[in-house]
Amino acid sequence: MTTSTAAKYGTARRAVTVRVNERHVTREVSTRTTLADFLRDELDLVSVHLGCEHGECGCCTVLFDGLSVRSCLMLAVQADGHAVETVESLSVNPAELHPVQEAFAEEQGLQCGFCTPAMLLRTKEIIETGREMTDAEVRHEISGILCRCTGYQNIVNAVQSAGTRLRGRTAGGRD
Ligand code: FES
Ligand code: FES
Repeated sequence: MTTSTAAKYGTARRAVTVRVNERHVTREVSTRTTLADFLRDELDLVSVHLGCEHGECGCCTVLFDGLSVRSCLMLAVQADGHAVETVESLSVNPAELHPVQEAFAEEQGLQCGFCTPAMLLRTKEIIETGREMTDAEVRHEISGILCRCTGYQNIVNAVQSAGTRLRGRTAGGRD
């Protein structure tokens, strides 16, 4: 005998309020809705890319209270009262890119772009520490996100370049 999903897991719904890209949003969601589906389906933030949907590829990475998480492994209800950033938050003005975006564009750190939102957000997180990183350290830091296209070297270059740009801006200099 088969049991329907609804019968097995219930149909409970709950209101959640999440600060998404600096804007508070409140929605009623199924308690089984993932954070990734909430961002994509409720808020139309389709930069959150779903690959494996079970925590392997990292392409659904977003920043949760400033730290990278796999949004396919979290429930929307877990985000209630927290802050989430997607790649849409990096630049509200297309004429003024974030240092991470500038670096990835100039170093050609992307091809198909499927992993790119996750890579950009992870890069933002790690360069905000302010430390310079070797190639090996960058590769370790981005190892949770799989890129099937680039061969990684351009991404490594972009992460290092983004760090240099951000440190330059923080110091008040130009890059
Ligand atoms: S879609 Fe979330 S880790 Fe692959
Ligand atoms: S650029 Fe295609 S998956 Fe990374």
